[in-house]
Amino acid sequence: MKLPHHLTIHNGHLHINGQDCTALAQIYGTPLYVTSEDRIVEHYRSYTTAFLARYPKVQVLFAAKANGNLAVIRALAREGAGADVFSSGELHLALDAGMAPEKLLFNGSSKTPQDLQLAVEKGVKVSVDSLDELHQLDAVARAAGKTVKIAFRVNPALDVPTHPKIATGLATSKFGIPHGEIPAAYREALACKNVQPVGIHCHIGSQILDIEPFVRAAEVMVRIARELTNMGVRLEFIDLGGGLGIPYHHDTDPAPSPEDYAAKVIPVFRSGVEACGITPELWVEPGRSLVADSTVLLTRVNSTKSAHKKFANVDAGFNLLIRPAMYDAYHEVIVANRADAPLTTEYTVTGPICETGDIVAADRKLPLLETGDIIAVLDAGAYGFAMSSQYNCRPRCPEVLIQGSRVSLMRRGETVDDITAPMQCPPWQR
Ligand code: LLP
Repeated sequence: MKLPHHLTIHNGHLHINGQDCTALAQIYGTPLYVTSEDRIVEHYRSYTTAFLARYPKVQVLFAAKANGNLAVIRALAREGAGADVFSSGELHLALDAGMAPEKLLFNGSSKTPQDLQLAVEKGVKVSVDSLDELHQLDAVARAAGKTVKIAFRVNPALDVPTHPKIATGLATSKFGIPHGEIPAAYREALACKNVQPVGIHCHIGSQILDIEPFVRAAEVMVRIARELTNMGVRLEFIDLGGGLGIPYHHDTDPAPSPEDYAAKVIPVFRSGVEACGITPELWVEPGRSLVADSTVLLTRVNSTKSAHKKFANVDAGFNLLIRPAMYDAYHEVIVANRADAPLTTEYTVTGPICETGDIVAADRKLPLLETGDIIAVLDAGAYGFAMSSQYNCRPRCPEVLIQGSRVSLMRRGETVDDITAPMQCPPWQR
Protein backbone atom coordinates (compact mmCIF):
# COMPACT_ATOMS: atom_id res chain seq x y z
CA MET A 1 0.00 0.00 0.00
CA LYS A 2 1.23 3.49 -0.87
CA LEU A 3 2.10 5.43 2.27
CA PRO A 4 2.67 9.15 2.65
CA HIS A 5 6.25 9.93 3.66
CA HIS A 6 5.49 10.52 7.36
CA LEU A 7 4.32 6.89 7.62
CA THR A 8 7.13 4.36 7.32
CA ILE A 9 7.79 0.74 8.14
CA HIS A 10 10.96 -0.25 10.07
CA ASN A 11 11.65 -3.72 11.42
CA GLY A 12 8.09 -4.74 10.68
CA HIS A 13 6.61 -1.88 12.70
CA LEU A 14 4.57 1.04 11.39
CA HIS A 15 6.08 4.41 12.35
CA ILE A 16 4.53 7.85 12.24
CA ASN A 17 6.91 10.78 12.08
CA GLY A 18 9.67 8.38 13.08
CA GLN A 19 7.81 7.07 16.15
CA ASP A 20 6.97 3.40 16.49
CA CYS A 21 3.17 3.06 16.67
CA THR A 22 3.43 -0.20 18.60
CA ALA A 23 5.60 1.46 21.24
CA LEU A 24 3.22 4.44 21.45
CA ALA A 25 0.32 2.02 21.99
CA GLN A 26 2.26 0.40 24.83
CA ILE A 27 3.16 3.71 26.47
CA TYR A 28 -0.17 5.50 26.16
CA GLY A 29 -2.55 2.55 25.87
CA THR A 30 -5.22 2.00 23.25
CA PRO A 31 -7.31 3.27 21.65
CA LEU A 32 -5.01 6.17 20.83
CA TYR A 33 -5.08 8.95 18.28
CA VAL A 34 -1.57 9.92 17.10
CA THR A 35 -1.02 13.04 14.99
CA SER A 36 2.00 14.39 13.14
CA GLU A 37 2.15 18.15 13.56
CA ASP A 38 4.85 18.29 10.88
CA ARG A 39 2.50 16.76 8.34
CA ILE A 40 -0.20 19.35 9.08
CA VAL A 41 2.30 22.19 8.72
CA GLU A 42 3.53 20.66 5.45
CA HIS A 43 -0.01 20.65 4.05
CA TYR A 44 -0.64 24.20 5.22
CA ARG A 45 2.52 25.41 3.51
CA SER A 46 1.64 23.61 0.30
CA TYR A 47 -1.60 25.61 0.25
CA THR A 48 0.06 28.96 0.86
CA THR A 49 2.91 28.27 -1.57
CA ALA A 50 0.61 27.13 -4.39
CA PHE A 51 -1.81 30.02 -3.88
CA LEU A 52 0.65 32.85 -3.29
CA ALA A 53 2.56 31.87 -6.43
CA ARG A 54 -0.56 32.82 -8.41
CA TYR A 55 -2.35 35.51 -6.46
CA PRO A 56 -0.95 38.10 -4.03
CA LYS A 57 -3.61 38.18 -1.30
CA VAL A 58 -4.43 34.81 0.18
CA GLN A 59 -5.73 33.68 3.55
CA VAL A 60 -6.07 30.02 4.46
CA LEU A 61 -8.74 29.41 7.12
CA PHE A 62 -8.61 26.02 8.80
CA ALA A 63 -12.06 24.44 9.06
CA ALA A 64 -11.90 23.82 12.79
CA LYS A 65 -14.75 21.31 12.67
CA ALA A 66 -12.36 18.82 11.08
CA ASN A 67 -10.10 18.66 14.12
CA GLY A 68 -10.91 20.64 17.23
CA ASN A 69 -7.83 19.93 19.27
CA LEU A 70 -6.31 23.17 20.58
CA ALA A 71 -2.77 22.00 19.83
CA VAL A 72 -3.65 21.27 16.20
CA ILE A 73 -5.30 24.68 15.82
CA ARG A 74 -2.35 26.34 17.55
CA ALA A 75 0.11 24.66 15.15
CA LEU A 76 -1.84 26.19 12.27
CA ALA A 77 -2.23 29.56 14.00
CA ARG A 78 1.56 29.77 14.30
CA GLU A 79 1.80 29.31 10.55
CA GLY A 80 -0.55 32.25 10.01
CA ALA A 81 -3.80 30.38 9.46
CA GLY A 82 -7.20 31.75 10.30
CA ALA A 83 -10.24 29.56 10.85
CA ASP A 84 -13.72 28.79 9.66
CA VAL A 85 -15.59 28.39 12.95
CA PHE A 86 -19.05 26.93 13.11
CA SER A 87 -20.00 27.53 16.73
CA SER A 88 -19.17 29.75 19.67
CA GLY A 89 -17.05 26.87 20.98
CA GLU A 90 -14.95 26.75 17.83
CA LEU A 91 -14.64 30.54 17.96
CA HIS A 92 -13.25 30.32 21.50
CA LEU A 93 -10.88 27.54 20.44
CA ALA A 94 -9.52 29.58 17.53
CA LEU A 95 -8.99 32.67 19.68
CA ASP A 96 -7.39 30.60 22.46
CA ALA A 97 -5.09 29.09 19.85
CA GLY A 98 -3.87 32.60 19.04
CA MET A 99 -5.69 33.29 15.79
CA ALA A 100 -6.40 36.95 15.05
CA PRO A 101 -10.15 37.79 15.04
CA GLU A 102 -9.90 39.31 11.56
CA LYS A 103 -8.81 35.92 10.22
CA LEU A 104 -11.92 34.19 11.55
CA LEU A 105 -15.19 33.61 9.74
CA PHE A 106 -18.16 32.60 11.87
CA ASN A 107 -20.13 30.23 9.65
CA GLY A 108 -23.35 28.42 10.29
CA SER A 109 -26.91 28.07 9.15
CA SER A 110 -28.44 28.20 12.63
CA LYS A 111 -26.73 30.69 14.91
CA THR A 112 -28.13 31.55 18.32
CA PRO A 113 -28.50 35.12 19.63
CA GLN A 114 -25.50 34.33 21.87
CA ASP A 115 -23.44 33.25 18.83
CA LEU A 116 -24.22 36.55 17.09
CA GLN A 117 -23.37 38.53 20.23
CA LEU A 118 -20.04 36.74 20.61
CA ALA A 119 -19.15 37.33 16.95
CA VAL A 120 -19.87 41.05 17.35
CA GLU A 121 -18.03 41.29 20.66
CA LYS A 122 -14.92 39.52 19.34
CA GLY A 123 -14.89 41.43 16.05
CA VAL A 124 -14.90 38.42 13.75
CA LYS A 125 -16.48 38.33 10.33
CA VAL A 126 -19.78 36.51 9.96
CA SER A 127 -21.02 34.41 7.08
CA VAL A 128 -24.73 35.19 7.10
CA ASP A 129 -27.01 32.38 5.98
CA SER A 130 -30.40 34.11 5.70
CA LEU A 131 -32.04 37.54 5.64
CA ASP A 132 -33.60 36.75 9.01
CA GLU A 133 -30.11 36.26 10.43
CA LEU A 134 -28.91 39.46 8.72
CA HIS A 135 -31.48 41.55 10.58
CA GLN A 136 -30.82 39.80 13.88
CA LEU A 137 -27.10 40.46 13.49
CA ASP A 138 -27.68 44.09 12.56
CA ALA A 139 -29.76 44.54 15.72
CA VAL A 140 -27.14 42.85 17.90
CA ALA A 141 -24.38 45.05 16.42
CA ARG A 142 -26.51 48.18 16.87
CA ALA A 143 -27.13 47.34 20.52
CA ALA A 144 -23.37 46.90 20.98
CA GLY A 145 -22.62 50.15 19.15
CA LYS A 146 -20.49 48.29 16.61
CA THR A 147 -20.36 47.48 12.91
CA VAL A 148 -19.90 43.88 11.87
CA LYS A 149 -18.30 42.80 8.60
CA ILE A 150 -20.20 40.08 6.80
CA ALA A 151 -20.34 37.81 3.79
CA PHE A 152 -23.41 35.97 2.62
CA ARG A 153 -23.17 32.23 2.20
CA VAL A 154 -23.98 31.64 -1.45
CA ASN A 155 -25.77 28.46 -2.44
CA PRO A 156 -24.27 27.96 -5.91
CA ALA A 157 -26.60 25.02 -6.73
CA LEU A 158 -23.77 22.76 -7.81
CA ASP A 159 -24.03 19.01 -7.93
CA VAL A 160 -20.68 17.59 -6.87
CA PRO A 161 -19.23 14.09 -6.94
CA THR A 162 -19.23 13.14 -3.27
CA HIS A 163 -21.37 11.43 -0.64
CA PRO A 164 -24.81 13.16 -0.60
CA LYS A 165 -24.53 13.79 3.14
CA ILE A 166 -21.50 16.02 2.60
CA ALA A 167 -22.51 17.82 -0.61
CA THR A 168 -23.24 21.24 0.87
CA GLY A 169 -23.81 23.37 -2.22
CA LEU A 170 -26.72 21.49 -3.79
CA ALA A 171 -29.74 23.62 -4.65
CA THR A 172 -31.64 21.50 -2.12
CA SER A 173 -29.14 21.81 0.74
CA LYS A 174 -29.90 23.72 3.93
CA PHE A 175 -26.92 26.03 3.48
CA GLY A 176 -26.85 29.52 2.12
CA ILE A 177 -28.93 31.80 -0.03
CA PRO A 178 -29.81 30.71 -3.59
CA HIS A 179 -27.32 32.39 -5.92
CA GLY A 180 -30.07 34.16 -7.86
CA GLU A 181 -31.23 35.92 -4.68
CA ILE A 182 -27.77 37.07 -3.66
CA PRO A 183 -27.84 40.59 -5.20
CA ALA A 184 -31.09 41.35 -3.36
CA ALA A 185 -29.56 40.11 -0.11
CA TYR A 186 -26.58 42.48 -0.48
CA ARG A 187 -28.92 45.34 -1.30
CA GLU A 188 -30.68 44.64 1.96
CA ALA A 189 -27.35 44.42 3.80
CA LEU A 190 -26.19 47.75 2.33
CA ALA A 191 -29.30 49.30 3.86
CA CYS A 192 -28.44 47.96 7.33
CA LYS A 193 -26.65 50.51 9.49
CA ASN A 194 -24.50 48.19 11.59
CA VAL A 195 -23.61 45.58 9.03
CA GLN A 196 -20.99 46.02 6.35
CA PRO A 197 -21.04 43.49 3.50
CA VAL A 198 -17.41 42.93 2.52
CA GLY A 199 -17.22 39.31 1.39
CA ILE A 200 -18.86 36.42 -0.40
CA HIS A 201 -18.68 32.87 0.83
CA CYS A 202 -19.47 29.44 -0.53
CA HIS A 203 -18.72 25.81 0.19
CA ILE A 204 -19.77 23.20 -2.32
CA GLY A 205 -19.05 20.00 -0.43
CA SER A 206 -16.41 17.84 1.11
CA GLN A 207 -14.18 14.95 -0.01
CA ILE A 208 -14.23 16.11 -3.64
CA LEU A 209 -11.46 14.45 -5.64
CA ASP A 210 -12.05 16.28 -8.91
CA ILE A 211 -10.95 19.92 -9.36
CA GLU A 212 -13.61 20.73 -11.95
CA PRO A 213 -16.43 21.45 -9.45
CA PHE A 214 -14.20 23.98 -7.70
CA VAL A 215 -13.61 25.73 -11.01
CA ARG A 216 -17.36 25.94 -11.51
CA ALA A 217 -17.80 27.35 -8.02
CA ALA A 218 -15.13 29.97 -8.72
CA GLU A 219 -16.98 30.93 -11.92
CA VAL A 220 -20.20 31.42 -9.97
CA MET A 221 -18.39 33.46 -7.32
CA VAL A 222 -16.65 35.85 -9.72
CA ARG A 223 -19.89 36.34 -11.61
CA ILE A 224 -21.54 37.33 -8.36
CA ALA A 225 -18.52 39.50 -7.47
CA ARG A 226 -19.08 41.43 -10.66
CA GLU A 227 -22.76 42.05 -9.94
CA LEU A 228 -21.96 43.11 -6.38
CA THR A 229 -19.14 45.42 -7.41
CA ASN A 230 -21.46 47.08 -9.91
CA MET A 231 -23.96 47.55 -7.08
CA GLY A 232 -21.36 49.37 -5.00
CA VAL A 233 -20.34 46.55 -2.65
CA ARG A 234 -16.61 46.88 -1.87
CA LEU A 235 -15.45 43.29 -1.65
CA GLU A 236 -12.55 42.68 0.71
CA PHE A 237 -12.59 38.89 0.40
CA ILE A 238 -14.03 36.05 -1.62
CA ASP A 239 -14.10 32.73 0.23
CA LEU A 240 -14.21 29.67 -2.01
CA GLY A 241 -14.71 27.25 0.89
CA GLY A 242 -12.94 23.97 1.52
CA GLY A 243 -13.70 20.57 0.14
CA LEU A 244 -10.53 19.19 -1.42
CA GLY A 245 -10.62 15.43 -0.88
CA ILE A 246 -7.91 13.00 0.07
CA PRO A 247 -7.10 9.52 -1.31
CA TYR A 248 -8.65 7.30 1.37
CA HIS A 249 -8.05 4.34 -0.98
CA HIS A 250 -4.32 4.83 -1.08
CA ASP A 251 -3.60 2.85 -4.20
CA THR A 252 -6.51 3.82 -6.41
CA ASP A 253 -8.00 7.22 -5.50
CA PRO A 254 -6.78 10.34 -7.25
CA ALA A 255 -4.79 12.59 -4.94
CA PRO A 256 -5.48 16.19 -5.95
CA SER A 257 -3.06 18.62 -4.31
CA PRO A 258 -3.41 22.29 -3.39
CA GLU A 259 -1.10 22.88 -6.36
CA ASP A 260 -3.57 21.14 -8.72
CA TYR A 261 -6.42 23.13 -7.18
CA ALA A 262 -4.59 26.45 -7.42
CA ALA A 263 -3.42 25.82 -10.98
CA LYS A 264 -6.98 25.42 -12.23
CA VAL A 265 -9.03 27.59 -9.90
CA ILE A 266 -6.87 30.68 -9.45
CA PRO A 267 -6.70 31.67 -13.13
CA VAL A 268 -10.53 31.74 -13.18
CA PHE A 269 -10.62 33.68 -9.93
CA ARG A 270 -7.89 36.07 -10.98
CA SER A 271 -9.28 36.96 -14.36
CA GLY A 272 -12.74 37.30 -12.81
CA VAL A 273 -11.69 39.80 -10.16
CA GLU A 274 -9.41 41.68 -12.57
CA ALA A 275 -12.41 42.15 -14.84
CA CYS A 276 -14.18 43.78 -11.87
CA GLY A 277 -11.15 46.00 -11.23
CA ILE A 278 -10.76 44.69 -7.67
CA THR A 279 -8.14 42.70 -5.74
CA PRO A 280 -10.02 41.09 -2.86
CA GLU A 281 -8.33 38.58 -0.59
CA LEU A 282 -8.79 35.02 -1.77
CA TRP A 283 -9.91 32.87 1.14
CA VAL A 284 -10.09 29.10 1.24
CA GLU A 285 -11.19 27.04 4.21
CA PRO A 286 -9.82 23.52 3.95
CA GLY A 287 -10.31 21.05 6.76
CA ARG A 288 -9.78 17.46 5.67
CA SER A 289 -6.91 18.07 3.25
CA LEU A 290 -4.90 19.80 6.01
CA VAL A 291 -5.32 17.25 8.76
CA ALA A 292 -6.77 13.90 7.63
CA ASP A 293 -3.62 11.99 6.76
CA SER A 294 -1.66 13.45 9.68
CA THR A 295 -3.29 11.02 12.09
CA VAL A 296 -3.61 7.33 12.81
CA LEU A 297 -6.04 5.77 15.24
CA LEU A 298 -4.35 2.87 17.02
CA THR A 299 -6.67 0.16 18.23
CA ARG A 300 -5.93 -3.19 19.89
CA VAL A 301 -7.35 -6.54 18.83
CA ASN A 302 -9.37 -7.75 21.82
CA SER A 303 -10.31 -11.05 20.23
CA THR A 304 -10.74 -12.76 16.89
CA LYS A 305 -13.62 -14.93 15.81
CA SER A 306 -14.52 -17.13 12.84
CA ALA A 307 -18.26 -16.98 12.28
CA HIS A 308 -19.84 -16.53 8.85
CA LYS A 309 -16.63 -14.61 8.25
CA LYS A 310 -13.58 -13.72 10.29
CA PHE A 311 -13.96 -10.85 12.71
CA ALA A 312 -11.27 -8.90 14.49
CA ASN A 313 -12.86 -7.24 17.51
CA VAL A 314 -10.93 -4.09 18.34
CA ASP A 315 -11.20 -1.50 21.10
CA ALA A 316 -12.16 1.51 18.91
CA GLY A 317 -15.50 1.69 17.16
CA PHE A 318 -17.82 4.34 15.87
CA ASN A 319 -17.61 6.03 19.25
CA LEU A 320 -14.14 7.17 18.13
CA LEU A 321 -14.36 7.11 14.33
CA ILE A 322 -17.88 7.38 13.00
CA ARG A 323 -17.02 7.97 9.34
CA PRO A 324 -17.34 4.32 8.20
CA ALA A 325 -20.70 3.91 9.96
CA MET A 326 -22.06 7.30 8.94
CA TYR A 327 -20.84 7.71 5.35
CA ASP A 328 -19.75 4.16 4.47
CA ALA A 329 -16.31 5.72 4.44
CA TYR A 330 -13.23 3.66 3.70
CA HIS A 331 -10.11 3.93 5.84
CA GLU A 332 -6.99 1.89 5.18
CA VAL A 333 -5.91 -0.35 8.05
CA ILE A 334 -2.44 -1.72 8.79
CA VAL A 335 -1.36 -4.12 11.52
CA ALA A 336 1.15 -1.80 13.14
CA ASN A 337 3.21 -4.46 14.91
CA ARG A 338 3.50 -6.71 11.84
CA ALA A 339 3.32 -4.16 9.08
CA ASP A 340 5.34 -6.15 6.55
CA ALA A 341 3.76 -9.57 7.21
CA PRO A 342 1.99 -11.19 4.24
CA LEU A 343 -1.70 -10.32 3.87
CA THR A 344 -3.11 -13.82 4.04
CA THR A 345 -6.48 -13.62 5.70
CA GLU A 346 -9.65 -11.62 5.19
CA TYR A 347 -11.08 -9.91 8.27
CA THR A 348 -13.84 -7.52 9.09
CA VAL A 349 -12.56 -5.19 11.79
CA THR A 350 -15.36 -4.41 14.22
CA GLY A 351 -15.56 -2.03 17.16
CA PRO A 352 -16.83 -2.59 20.71
CA ILE A 353 -20.13 -0.73 20.31
CA CYS A 354 -23.45 -2.54 20.69
CA GLU A 355 -24.55 -1.99 17.11
CA THR A 356 -24.28 -4.16 14.03
CA GLY A 357 -23.09 -1.16 12.04
CA ASP A 358 -20.02 -0.74 14.22
CA ILE A 359 -17.62 -1.80 11.50
CA VAL A 360 -14.28 -0.03 11.21
CA ALA A 361 -13.13 -1.83 8.06
CA ALA A 362 -14.97 -4.54 6.14
CA ASP A 363 -13.43 -7.50 4.30
CA ARG A 364 -9.75 -6.54 4.43
CA LYS A 365 -6.81 -8.76 3.72
CA LEU A 366 -4.56 -8.69 6.79
CA PRO A 367 -1.91 -10.92 8.32
CA LEU A 368 -3.32 -13.71 10.50
CA LEU A 369 -4.31 -11.76 13.61
CA GLU A 370 -3.71 -12.46 17.27
CA THR A 371 -5.17 -10.92 20.36
CA GLY A 372 -3.01 -7.95 21.31
CA ASP A 373 -2.14 -6.94 17.75
CA ILE A 374 -2.31 -3.21 17.12
CA ILE A 375 -4.28 -2.05 14.11
CA ALA A 376 -3.60 1.42 12.76
CA VAL A 377 -6.58 3.07 11.08
CA LEU A 378 -5.14 5.60 8.65
CA ASP A 379 -6.34 9.08 7.64
CA ALA A 380 -8.20 9.59 10.90
CA GLY A 381 -7.20 13.21 11.52
CA ALA A 382 -10.25 14.86 9.97
CA TYR A 383 -13.74 14.32 11.41
CA GLY A 384 -12.30 11.54 13.57
CA PHE A 385 -11.92 12.55 17.20
CA ALA A 386 -13.92 15.67 16.32
CA MET A 387 -17.04 13.53 15.78
CA SER A 388 -16.42 11.10 18.63
CA SER A 389 -18.93 10.34 21.35
CA GLN A 390 -19.19 8.64 24.73
CA TYR A 391 -21.78 6.17 23.47
CA ASN A 392 -22.02 2.99 25.56
CA CYS A 393 -20.41 5.02 28.38
CA ARG A 394 -17.01 4.73 26.80
CA PRO A 395 -14.57 7.44 27.83
CA ARG A 396 -12.88 9.04 24.84
CA CYS A 397 -9.26 8.05 24.28
CA PRO A 398 -6.15 10.23 24.54
CA GLU A 399 -4.55 12.07 21.63
CA VAL A 400 -0.81 12.34 21.12
CA LEU A 401 1.02 14.92 19.01
CA ILE A 402 4.43 14.45 17.43
CA GLN A 403 6.64 17.28 16.24
CA GLY A 404 10.15 16.45 15.02
CA SER A 405 11.33 13.83 17.49
CA ARG A 406 9.12 15.18 20.29
CA VAL A 407 6.04 13.33 21.47
CA SER A 408 3.42 14.70 23.83
CA LEU A 409 -0.13 14.12 24.92
CA MET A 410 -2.41 16.76 23.44
CA ARG A 411 -5.47 15.39 25.19
CA ARG A 412 -5.59 13.05 28.14
CA GLY A 413 -7.89 10.08 28.00
CA GLU A 414 -11.24 10.54 29.67
CA THR A 415 -12.36 8.46 32.63
CA VAL A 416 -15.82 7.20 33.50
CA ASP A 417 -15.83 9.95 36.15
CA ASP A 418 -15.46 12.52 33.34
CA ILE A 419 -18.62 11.08 31.83
CA THR A 420 -20.64 11.02 35.03
CA ALA A 421 -19.37 14.33 36.49
CA PRO A 422 -21.98 16.57 34.77
CA MET A 423 -24.83 14.23 35.67
CA GLN A 424 -26.91 14.82 38.77
CA CYS A 425 -29.60 12.96 40.62
CA PRO A 426 -32.96 14.76 40.74
CA PRO A 427 -34.10 15.59 44.30
CA TRP A 428 -36.68 12.79 44.43
CA GLN A 429 -33.91 10.19 43.95
CA ARG A 430 -31.70 11.45 46.75
N1 LLP B 1 -16.19 25.27 5.19
C1 LLP B 1 -17.48 24.94 5.38
C2 LLP B 1 -18.49 25.99 5.38
C3 LLP B 1 -17.84 23.61 5.57
O1 LLP B 1 -19.12 23.29 5.73
C4 LLP B 1 -16.83 22.61 5.58
C5 LLP B 1 -17.18 21.22 5.83
C6 LLP B 1 -15.49 23.01 5.39
C7 LLP B 1 -15.21 24.36 5.19
C8 LLP B 1 -14.36 22.05 5.36
O2 LLP B 1 -14.47 21.14 4.31
P1 LLP B 1 -13.31 20.10 4.02
O3 LLP B 1 -12.12 20.85 3.47
O4 LLP B 1 -12.96 19.43 5.30
O5 LLP B 1 -13.88 19.16 3.06
N2 LLP B 1 -17.96 14.88 8.59
C9 LLP B 1 -17.82 14.72 7.16
C10 LLP B 1 -17.43 16.02 6.48
C11 LLP B 1 -18.39 17.15 6.72
C12 LLP B 1 -17.95 18.43 6.08
C13 LLP B 1 -18.85 19.56 6.44
N3 LLP B 1 -18.38 20.84 6.03
C14 LLP B 1 -16.83 13.60 6.88
O6 LLP B 1 -16.33 13.00 7.82
O7 LLP B 1 -16.57 13.29 5.73
